[in-house]
This record gives sequence, C-alpha cells and structure tokens, in this order.
Amino acid sequence: MQTGIKNKLALVTASTQGIGFATAKMLAEEGAAVRVHGRGGESLDHALERIRQAVPGAKVQGVAADLAADDGVAQLLKQLPAVDILVNGYADTGAKMLADVRAADWDSILHNNLATTSAISTHYLTGMLQKGWGRMVFVSSDLALRPLPYMVPYSAAKLAQLTLARGLAEMTAGSEVRVNAVMPGFTLTERTESILRSTADRHGIPFDRFMHDYFNDPACSYVAEVGHATSLIKRLLRPEEVASMIVYLCSELSSGTNGATLRCDGGATLTAL
Ligand SMILES: NC(=O)c1ccc[n+]([C@@H]2O[C@H](COP(=O)([O-])OP(=O)(O)OC[C@H]3O[C@@H](n4cnc5c(N)ncnc54)[C@H](OP(=O)(O)O)[C@@H]3O)[C@@H](O)[C@H]2O)c1
Repeated sequence: MQTGIKNKLALVTASTQGIGFATAKMLAEEGAAVRVHGRGGESLDHALERIRQAVPGAKVQGVAADLAADDGVAQLLKQLPAVDILVNGYADTGAKMLADVRAADWDSILHNNLATTSAISTHYLTGMLQKGWGRMVFVSSDLALRPLPYMVPYSAAKLAQLTLARGLAEMTAGSEVRVNAVMPGFTLTERTESILRSTADRHGIPFDRFMHDYFNDPACSYVAEVGHATSLIKRLLRPEEVASMIVYLCSELSSGTNGATLRCDGGATLTAL
C-alpha cells in the first residue's frame, strides 16, 4: 500500500523517545521529511542519530523548543512556520492524586496539554488549508475515557483534545485536510517503563512478576495502583503499534477519515464503540 507522504514535511512534537520517536521514525521510513522535536540537547541529537542509522537516506532534522516555557510555542513556530503533517505528541502528564491537585495544577496541565496544542494546531491548520492538503493527528489517551485518580487533570485534557481535534476538523470542510485523534492504551515507553519499575520496586516485587500480575490479576492492590488490567492483548502496547495507526492517519490511505477518534488500546476500553 502506498502511504503517499513521500517528501511531505512532518512535525512530530515530543518525538525524541516513546510513541513520538516511533512515529517520527516510521514517517521517515515512508519518505517524509521529518522534524523531530524535543527540548534540545543530547536527547534530540541521539534521536536524530538513531533514525539516521535505522533509515538510510532519512530526511530528518531536529527542532528544539520547550513547550512548557512561556515562549515555547513561538520558538517552535519561528523555526518551522509551516508543515504538511502535524502529530501532536507533546503532553504534560502531571501525575498527582486528585485530593492534592490545586488550582495551579489544573491551570498548568490544561494550559500545556490544551492551550499549547491548540495554538500550535491552529497555526499549522491555516497553512494546510491555504495549501489545500494536510494531516493532523492528536495523540490523546484511553485515559480520556477512564480517568485514574492520580491523573484526572491529564485525563480531562486528553478528553478535551478530542473536542479540539473535532473542532479543527470542522474547519477543514471541503478540503483535503484531515484532523483526527488516536487513543493509545498503556504503551511500553521509557516513561511508562520507569513508572512500572518503580512501582514494582516499591512493593519489592520482581518486574516480571509485577507485569504478569498486571495483566492477570487486576484485583491485586499494587496493580490497581497503575490502572486496570482490561487489555484483551494482555500486554503493554509497543510504541510502533501506536505509531502505525498514527502514520496511517497521516497518509493518503486515511483520506476518508476526518474528525474521528481511533482507538489503539489492545481492547482495554470495555466498549465496542
Ligand atoms: N506511554 C503511554 O502509555 C501513553 C498512553 C496513552 C497516551 N500517551 C500519549 O502519547 C504521547 C507520548 O507519550 P510517551 O509516553 O511516548 O512519551 P512522553 O514520555 O510523554 O514524552 C517524551 C517526549 O516528550 C518530550 N518533552 C517532554 N517535556 C517537553 C517539553 N516541555 N517541551 C517539549 N518536549 C518535551 C521529550 O523530549 P526531551 O526530553 O528530549 O525534551 C520526549 O521526546 C503523549 O501525548 C501521551 O500522553 C502515552
């Protein structure tokens, strides 16, 4: 199948590791000119190096901007004023028990996940509409629909991102621009692995046994702490599995899909729709 994105200019925000990195690499494999994004420094250099080694001839460059900083969006847009493809991967997870969440936490988590993403998206959408073609994908989360007590503001922001994506899609009527969202489930990225390992360590349980219990004994107290073991595939997702759905939505193959949310959660959400 032809993805039809060769030489398209793609930005994946927060792509030096995890789902963003897997997406940037896969877009490069499809021949897109990819901008890998992070706060800069060693991790950005390392990500570029890894893609160049894995994908001979990859058209890949880095763009550094701290999206939690006041001028982060301006820094990003100054360096990269227009793109054909935007993957909104940046997130502020802000993990904290709801009882400890203060107004300032709500402000910063909603600002970082929504206002920042909205500013970036509306800017690039204008260029896509002028050009007549574009693809935008929001990386939301299955937690948008099943909030955990220690990530409620994050979940609320991820749910609102679906509304944001749909609202942007409404602006694309009659064009070849598409705006969609994916809801990944729990994915084995560097960040989640460190959360799982530290939870296992805290309970003095070997990591392998912890992961076995995670998918087979949802009633277990230390498993309940990190989420529900409702996955039908009984394992964490691989970043590449999420990336392939994102790349599909970035491609010509998904031209009939607009304003939609697709799930990539291994069946963890307990409904058909
Ligand atoms: N992992 C999961 O289980 C899971 C599940 C559902 C949804 N998601 C969503 O998928 C997306 C990716 O998650 P992930 O777990 O793969 O990665 P992540 O750990 O959330 O993000 C890592 C990336 O974020 C960048 N980053 C961090 N702070 C930044 C800042 N202030 N400004 C710019 N970039 C910043 C890092 O770049 P540098 O460190 O190089 O600056 C790195 O590239 C997120 O939107 C997340 O909400 C993840």
